[in-house]
Amino acid sequence: MPFADIYARYYNLLYKDKDYPAEFRYLNAIISLSAASANSILDLGCGTGKHLRCFQDAGYNVAGVDVSAAMLAAAQEQLGEGVDLINAKISEFYTDKKFNVITSLFHVMSYQADTAELAKVLANVAEHLADGGLFIFDFWYGPAVLTDLPAVRIKRLADEEIKITRITEPVMRYNENIVEVNFELLIEPKTGGGA
Ligand SMILES: C[S@@+](CC[C@H](N)C(=O)[O-])C[C@H]1O[C@@H](n2cnc3c(N)ncnc32)[C@H](O)[C@@H]1O
Repeated sequence: MPFADIYARYYNLLYKDKDYPAEFRYLNAIISLSAASANSILDLGCGTGKHLRCFQDAGYNVAGVDVSAAMLAAAQEQLGEGVDLINAKISEFYTDKKFNVITSLFHVMSYQADTAELAKVLANVAEHLADGGLFIFDFWYGPAVLTDLPAVRIKRLADEEIKITRITEPVMRYNENIVEVNFELLIEPKTGGGA
């Protein structure tokens, strides 16, 4: 599902506490176990390019795919010109390049809630991996979700100019094995008053 422009605009602020460098170190440790000479990475659902920036700083050739043009615009700013950023669904993108490592992080795979769509994503990954390459992804693990049920949450954040209140309301669609996650954002100038 594409991220709305408004969500993309405030994404980095909403996740400012997410420790991308620590996640990069963890990923790099996994990669060095079996693909120590890896030098190229494609990130599926790359968002604003925070993981890719860590890989770029470590000397990788980086590329990303995202269905949201607004998220990719932020990634372009993060990564500079000359980086391949493909605006497409991860089930449908195509590039003639192959990669040592493909990642899909922060539950992007969980957005592929349709089995046929998920199969298309995996086939596309296989097509773009170099021989011996690695595909690393995370996802919401069903039994854990059912044990620790998603709940309504409120998150408050601010920068120099604005305050954001984000209300997250999950809806469990048990029979379809789907959690629908609805966000409501309230954005106010820091000096007071609503927006
Ligand atoms: C929670 S964000 C994660 C962004 C980034 N991976 C990170 O860790 O910050 C999910 C991203 O996946 C993208 N996305 C979700 N489903 C997608 C799909 N089917 N094809 C391409 N991008 C997708 C969204 O547009 C969004 O940028």
